[in-house]
Amino acid sequence: MLGKLEKKRRYWESPYGVWGPRVPRPGGWRAQWGFPPEAPLLLEVGCGTGEFAVWMAERCPTQLVIGLDRKADRLATGCRLAAEKKLSNVAFWHGDALVLAEAFAPGEVSTLWLHHPDPYPKRRQEKHRLVHPRFLWQYARILARGGRLHLRTDAPDLYAYALEQLRQAGWTVVYHSPDLRPGEGPPEAHFPTRFFYRRPGPLHYLEALPPAPL
Ligand SMILES: C[S@@+](CC[C@H](N)C(=O)[O-])C[C@H]1O[C@@H](n2cnc3c(N)ncnc32)[C@H](O)[C@@H]1O
Repeated sequence: MLGKLEKKRRYWESPYGVWGPRVPRPGGWRAQWGFPPEAPLLLEVGCGTGEFAVWMAERCPTQLVIGLDRKADRLATGCRLAAEKKLSNVAFWHGDALVLAEAFAPGEVSTLWLHHPDPYPKRRQEKHRLVHPRFLWQYARILARGGRLHLRTDAPDLYAYALEQLRQAGWTVVYHSPDLRPGEGPPEAHFPTRFFYRRPGPLHYLEALPPAPL
């Protein structure tokens, strides 16, 4: 079992790692990986060990997938999986979702996924929830017209909070279910993750469109 430091070292050395000088300028993400301007770009915020991002990249090779997380040791796993599968359409960015609006040009991201984000259940932790307004305005800015935010969680409180915050911020929730059954919603909402907050239970899922730009 590798320690955290060794995992971080592997992340910094991996060609799949995006950090510091390797982070493209806003508007330059597709070009950096040789994708045409019209190619879809999927961003997973809080991708952890990257299994979902790698799976999404495998499902659609014409799509560029960027996994973002602030823990480099976790990203090392995603880099290893991508290397094993020889993928050329996925990369793992070590950064913080708080700087998304500075890192991407307006409308640069086609689809944004929050896949089992940390629920941060305590009131004093509210600002860390990835559906807090301080993140939502940034998602709205970087998402393309018609681009969707997808949230999947097994934390009912986070799901309810997300619905409330999205509606207050003027997003249109186009689909939501507090108990997503097999066959419902898009196939990617059924990724067989090993990650569950408490224990496997009902899946909460929603899709939302950002408010029109001012
Ligand atoms: C519960 S894990 C989920 C990982 C992955 N999406 C999955 O489904 O297996 C949540 C991840 O979000 C990351 N995270 C939380 N807040 C973040 C932020 N502001 N910016 C970037 N990553 C963040 C954490 O480091 C953690 O790895």
